[in-house]
Amino acid sequence: MTYLLIKTLHLLAAIAFIGTLFFQVLILAPAAQRLDPSVRALLGPVLGQQARHVIHVVAIVLYGAGLTLVWPYRSLLANPLSSTFATLLSLKILLAFMIIGHYAALIFLRRSQRIGERGMHWLNVSLLLHAMLLVICAKSMFVL
Ligand code: HEM
Repeated sequence: MTYLLIKTLHLLAAIAFIGTLFFQVLILAPAAQRLDPSVRALLGPVLGQQARHVIHVVAIVLYGAGLTLVWPYRSLLANPLSSTFATLLSLKILLAFMIIGHYAALIFLRRSQRIGERGMHWLNVSLLLHAMLLVICAKSMFVL
């Protein structure tokens, strides 16, 4: 029952995480291109702040639940090539850490003011692709 609850939380957080990225990349960014620069300048920081706030909470639930879920499989991870399941789970975890790497890079680039709107967009595209690949691993690891 507890495992089911944690798995459900993990899945809901994954939906929220990928849904936010999907919205940013495929809806918000193209729509913002059609706005007047003055409106974009007003809207951008407000939306960015709210998105960061939501993503922080979602990421804590997602990664916290993920670490709990992986506990029963810990011995398998010692030998990632021992089975298809172990390989896909290891790949899934690697992708999850690469996603954290994206956010670390984003924080660094923002603080040193080395990233503009275009850079942020491509970083979000890369995040979305990593997250999609991760879900493919998650969903195929029990089937293949
Ligand atoms: C961006 C981060 C992540 C995303 C988007 C994600 C997504 C998913 C999805 C969609 C599932 C399938 C759930 C289902 O259909 O029931 C899943 C399962 C799983 N995830 Fe994650 N995950 C992430 C991070 C992590 C992390 C960091 C870990 C562990 C270190 C982890 C461990 C697991 C495990 C062990 C399962 C299988 C649970 C089971 O059925 O026994 N995940 N994940």
